[in-house]
Amino acid sequence: HRHVDHATAEAVQQVIDGGDFHAHLPDYQDLAAYRAEGGYATLTDLRDTGDWEAVQQTIADSGLRGLGGAGFPSGKKWGFVRGNPGPRLMAVNGDEGEPGTFKDRYYLERVPHLFLEGMLIAAWAVEAERVYLYMRDEYPAVLEILRREIAALETAGLIAPGFVDLRRGAGAYICGEESAMIESIEGKRGLPRHRPPYVAQVGLFGRPTLVHNIETCHWIARIMREGPEILSSVEKNGRKGLRSYSVSGRVKAPGVHLLPAGSTITDIIAAAGGMLDGHVFKAYQPGGPSSGLLPASINDVPLDFDTLQPLGTFIGSAAVVVLSDHDKARDAALNMLRFFEAESCGQCTPCRVGCEKAVKLMQAEHWDQGLLEEVSQAMVDASICGLGQAAPNPIRLVMKHFADEI
Ligand code: NAI
Ligand code: SF4
Repeated sequence: HRHVDHATAEAVQQVIDGGDFHAHLPDYQDLAAYRAEGGYATLTDLRDTGDWEAVQQTIADSGLRGLGGAGFPSGKKWGFVRGNPGPRLMAVNGDEGEPGTFKDRYYLERVPHLFLEGMLIAAWAVEAERVYLYMRDEYPAVLEILRREIAALETAGLIAPGFVDLRRGAGAYICGEESAMIESIEGKRGLPRHRPPYVAQVGLFGRPTLVHNIETCHWIARIMREGPEILSSVEKNGRKGLRSYSVSGRVKAPGVHLLPAGSTITDIIAAAGGMLDGHVFKAYQPGGPSSGLLPASINDVPLDFDTLQPLGTFIGSAAVVVLSDHDKARDAALNMLRFFEAESCGQCTPCRVGCEKAVKLMQAEHWDQGLLEEVSQAMVDASICGLGQAAPNPIRLVMKHFADEI
């Protein structure tokens, strides 16, 4: 036993030190391969002669919106951050904790330099003095790729040593909320802050901070290299752009499927190889557990930012989970609320107590719908952050669309 303990401690220390890496490393595009196809030419040109407002306009023309899930216009954020006096900082949110979401990992394990170049373009645009890259620790291969490639960028002279500070999360969902992430980077407990002020004004270490998601940076690099039309020219069902849907559940080909932003659930299931044999499509989670569940009958709505609002939900990080006649919507909703109960940071009562009470009420054979609605409204009205505000969505949507189960 002593021997095993020692070996384990050594392996853990190696991971902490960024030493030898033993897990499987995917075959990704490294710096040399990326530069061979023109990578980093955009960044170096911009640094030499670029006009940040022209870049901001190109990003606006593409229609790019924040792909962490909120869909805030990406270039607009640059203006907010630049509107505050320096020194300014940048923080990249790679915490990707939304259950069912794995698109950031998908891109980082394949083409990490598209993300890194996009990140550096954004950092240049807001004149960030340093970039803090907050990465989910449950992605060991991604962390190793980033360690290696950030070191390669330093060696190549594309960034100054220490300009990009790679930080590891510790598995708390709430640390993906941008202000909790900032607290965590500062070395504190990950408790979301009240806003305003927005992080663009008062962010990391009190400085104006640009926060982008990994995939948002990936598209910034592609837009700057390939033109804004790579997004703006794609049109479907009245929507423009592309979405990286993370698809899982009862489908034949789960995975990341890059489709037009106007895609419906029917299109997404088709792209994911159709339903598993013996399964009939029943319901779907459109974008993470905080988006709740929609019934299969709502199958003609584009799964994009804004379009789901009238239905009481949202696309979020586009984590689509497909349920079949083998599943119960009430079980899925209870599972979602158990997750929120476990992950609530607990600093505000409506969320901390509301999640716990909701779980108890949802375990009853017959739901007390009046009381569940009352709890839901209190959570929406009085929670500090999105976790508590959106946690009632699964409850409300099951009461609305799956009343026969409760
Ligand atoms: P939000 O809409 O409040 O903010 C989005 C971004 O815009 C933030 O960076 C915020 O600082 C900025 N912003 C908004 N209004 C601003 C203003 N007036 N001035 C300056 N900046 C402003 O949304 P939030 O709460 O940050 O994110 C919620 C989304 O996160 C949900 O849609 C959810 O789906 C998604 N999410 C994604 C996860 C993932 O793993 N990718 C995990 C959990 C949630
Ligand atoms: Fe924490 Fe929940 Fe309040 Fe958010 S809503 S700050 S997760 S207790």
